[in-house]
This record gives sequence, C-alpha cells and structure tokens, in this order.
Amino acid sequence: MRTFNTINETQTWCRDHKRQGKSIGIVPTMGYLHAGHLSLVKESRSQCEITVVSIFVNPIQFGVGEDFEDYPRDLHKDSRLLDEAGADALFAPSIREMYPPGYNSYVEVSGEITEKLCGRSRPGHFRGVTTVVSKLFNICVPDMAFFGQKDAQQAMVIEKMVRELNFPLQIVRVPIVREADGLAMSSRNVYLNPEQRRQALVLNQSLQKAREAIAGGERNAGRVKDLLCHTISTSPEAKIEYAEIYDAASLADVQEIDGSVLVAMAVRFGTTRLIDNLIVEV
Ligand code: PAJ
Repeated sequence: MRTFNTINETQTWCRDHKRQGKSIGIVPTMGYLHAGHLSLVKESRSQCEITVVSIFVNPIQFGVGEDFEDYPRDLHKDSRLLDEAGADALFAPSIREMYPPGYNSYVEVSGEITEKLCGRSRPGHFRGVTTVVSKLFNICVPDMAFFGQKDAQQAMVIEKMVRELNFPLQIVRVPIVREADGLAMSSRNVYLNPEQRRQALVLNQSLQKAREAIAGGERNAGRVKDLLCHTISTSPEAKIEYAEIYDAASLADVQEIDGSVLVAMAVRFGTTRLIDNLIVEV
C-alpha cells in the first residue's frame, strides 16, 4: 500500500491510474479504524480496481467544545489494518496541507436536510464535512465514493451535494456494522466506561422496538418517538439529544408513517455522543 501525505503526490498517483483506465474508489475516514470502516474498503475493492482511503481528522467539522483534540488517533495501526484489508493507497494529510494559512473556501448544502438532526445540534458540522469531502473528490477524482449508513444524514447531504454540484462520481452507501451485542461500531465507543458501554445497548434496542411497533401496524410517528424516548430513558446515564422520525429521502416531517422513514437518534453517555439509526419501509 502506498502512503501519501501531500495533495500533489496523491493527485498525480490517482491521475496516473485513471490514465491507465483504472476505476478509483475513495473511502473518506477520520481514522481509528474499525470493522465498519473496513467494510467500506471491502465494498470499494469489490466495485473499483483501485481503492484510496483517506485519514484526516477534519478540524472544521468539529464545533467549539467538541472532541477534536481528544478524537482517538492511531495512524500506525490504521495503516497496518488498511494494508491487510488490501487498500491501494492511504492519503493522510496534515491540517496545514488541507487548510494552509489564509484558507477561505467552503462548500455548503443548505435547507431542511442540514437543519435537522445533527445539523441542528452541531451547527457548521455539515459545512465542514461537505468542504473536506469536496476537496477529497477533487484530489482523487474517484469514480465511486463509499459512505456508511451509520451516518445516514451525512450520506444524504453528500448525495445531494454530488447531485446538485454535478460531481462526476457515484456515491455508494454501506450498511451499519455492529458489535455482536448490537452496538453500532464507532471510533468514539472507546470513550465509554464499562457501565456506559453496557447502557449504550439501548440505542439499538430502541430502534428494534420502533421497527417492531411499525411492523405491528403502528403508523403514528409521535407514538413511535415516545416509544424510542421511553426505551432510551431506561438507561440512567443516557441523555437524549434527539430521537426523530423523518422521511428517509428528504428528511421532511412525518406524522403518519408511510413509505420509507429514517428513525435516527443522538444520545450522550457522559461526554460521549453516540448516534444510530434505522430505515424502516412500510
Ligand atoms: P468517520 O466517522 O471516520 O467515518 C468514516 C466512514 O465510515 C463514514 O462514511 C461512516 O459512515 C462510516 N462508518 C462509521 N462507522 C460505521 C459502521 N459502524 N458501519 C458502517 N460504516 C461506518 O464520517 C466521517 O468519518 C467524516 O465525517 C468524513 C466523511 C471522513 C469527513 O471528514
């Protein structure tokens, strides 16, 4: 696996492979890799001839008081995991390489899709994400880019950006990878103490309850939301930031559940913020 720290080297290497007619898949990450990230690498390898993985803890998508400084990092281990997973190149730039002094260009998707859920609780977050992802797309010029359903809203925002700004590539969404007990894998799970780790199971449990209720005929979104909140609240340490049901394609409000809905939540355990979601089709 090749490792690059500069934009120039990465751009040249990708351009050379494109010239040889190779298809390129990109997997953007912030590192501290787990099986969820590696499933994106696997998917890229099955669909593209060349897989480039980026590792960059993107400062501009973290708000003031969020965990940018504390975000877990282990580039050495990540590099070994990616090599074993068969990635062709790792792009791991410095902050200065991505945002040199005087940097002033941003990409923003506005509207309902970035105003709800994480967009409401983390102002400026998606602007940081769409900016860095646009830069990565311009650096690698991939044919496909792979994103996890774990960050469902992020995938929706990026799909909208790609559509509306005519980025010449296809976005592929990959299902959520979970631990054996159902907790969605996340780099942030390492922050949880053993008791919080145990209590964090309520996220997936509440999603399963919501799914069962809808499968059993419940169509009132308000009642399903109450069920979610009630289930999450059985964990004494859980502080709900949001637990919502929206249209899965547009994030429009839903009163009566119909078609495809996104059931999504953000819950804090101490200072650790976890997200999870499920798409339910009626
Ligand atoms: P990060 O949190 O490192 O996630 C990188 C990619 O891995 C995202 O597409 C995310 O949805 C996916 N992912 C994380 N956990 C997963 C799981 N349990 N199952 C499946 N996929 C999972 O998301 C980001 O980084 C950043 O916002 C980024 C897009 C890289 C921009 O900085």
